[in-house]
Amino acid sequence: MKVSVFGLGYVGTVSAASFAAAGHEVVGVDVNEDKVRTINEGRSPIVEPGLGELLTDVVGRGQLRATTSTADAVNATDLSLVCVGTPSRRNGSLDLTYLTRVCEQIGEVIRDKSSYHVVVIRSTVLPGTTHGTVIPALETASGTKYGEGFGVSVNPEFLREGTALKDFREPPFTLVGHNHAADAAPTQALYEDIAAPLYNAPIRTAEMIKYTSNTWHAVKVVFANEIGNLCKKVGVDSHDVMDIFCKDQKLNLSSYYMKPGFAFGGSCLPKDVRALQYRAKEVDLVMPLINSVLGSNRMQIDHALDRIVDTGKKKIGLMGFSFKAGTDDLRESPIVILAEKLLGKGYSLSIYDKNVSLAKLVGANKQYIEEQIPHLSQHLCDTLDELIDCSEVIVVGNGSPEFSDALTKTRADQTVIDLVRIPLDFTKVKAQYDGICW
Ligand SMILES: NC(=O)c1ccc[n+]([C@@H]2O[C@H](COP(=O)([O-])OP(=O)(O)OC[C@H]3O[C@@H](n4cnc5c(N)ncnc54)[C@H](O)[C@@H]3O)[C@@H](O)[C@H]2O)c1
Repeated sequence: MKVSVFGLGYVGTVSAASFAAAGHEVVGVDVNEDKVRTINEGRSPIVEPGLGELLTDVVGRGQLRATTSTADAVNATDLSLVCVGTPSRRNGSLDLTYLTRVCEQIGEVIRDKSSYHVVVIRSTVLPGTTHGTVIPALETASGTKYGEGFGVSVNPEFLREGTALKDFREPPFTLVGHNHAADAAPTQALYEDIAAPLYNAPIRTAEMIKYTSNTWHAVKVVFANEIGNLCKKVGVDSHDVMDIFCKDQKLNLSSYYMKPGFAFGGSCLPKDVRALQYRAKEVDLVMPLINSVLGSNRMQIDHALDRIVDTGKKKIGLMGFSFKAGTDDLRESPIVILAEKLLGKGYSLSIYDKNVSLAKLVGANKQYIEEQIPHLSQHLCDTLDELIDCSEVIVVGNGSPEFSDALTKTRADQTVIDLVRIPLDFTKVKAQYDGICW
């Protein structure tokens, strides 16, 4: 393919050299004449293992050349990868000056170009940027419409400096965000030789995946360091801990617990996070990330409450009362806390959970619920039908399988607030549907 790469920094130079090495005809573009000259001399403008040799090779074979001329690059290619910087402003917001400028420059050339040109955003941009900034800049400068004279896709970069070439060849996956298949095809074709899964997503989703990844990586580093600091204080080798911790790829390093939804609860997680926080306090250690966990979890309960209050309705039915389906453990169930808050605000409450029967509750579980909701029995329904009948708002509190079917019996005047993303056949659910965080 004929590809132009705008911005010859870390991402742009690695992309340009790697696509050239894969056999594509590449034109690199930068406003910085020194970088352009350096690349045309077959040298690397950045320090990155192996990149100098690769550039010498691909420039020498004529697979890659660099220019300061946008017109030259856009006219000579079918697809432009945008890799300009998107730095932070002083207040933390994203500075889109370079991105906007480069789109205007590419757009001005597209104005006089007869063939369809695809612009691929490889820079890291927040959700909405492609629709709010990139496409309008291209449309205004080109005088043509998105989808007519040009296409746009988003292809975030996941390389790490220092291992960039290897990461380019062996990425965890390739992500192509697009809203039209015609725009995705040339971007996907660029990655034919890369042995990694390729995922397609709408543009906004692709933009968000990049931020989700980087924020997650940042959280991992900070979490490991906080655990490390505590380990040192209590005389444990943190690397022994983390080495074995990471061997658990079912719960610890896996997709488990990674589904947005309701707060955590139960008899272990809140208690154990609290105990670890207390131990840290005893040894004078501040753990800002871990210390924020319980507060954030409480806020998720408030988010659910806000969604219910926003409906303006007063008769609330809770489907599921224990902290997860298939248990009767009510201790620190976030649904119990939500129920308490609703009762405190004067809402009428009905509750159904096939595993929760007052007669069967015993021990600490029974004591907990008697303290939290003393008159629970008057709120419990015997059947799901009974709950649906008498509720204006139905809150799905855990993923018990019978709830999916039951919700097909809802009426159009009802609202379902889903805290767990229960599988639903939306053609059969008449109630209005609202997910807590989707
Ligand atoms: N550095 C990384 O490891 C990395 C990894 C993944 C994603 N990203 C993202 O990729 C983007 C680029 O990052 P980077 O580190 O390569 O940036 P960089 O600052 O190293 O390079 C950006 C280049 O763009 C050039 N440029 C600016 N305006 C231009 C224009 N109008 N025309 C042509 N060139 C222009 C600059 O001269 C510079 O050489 C950012 O959004 C960044 O967040 C970076």
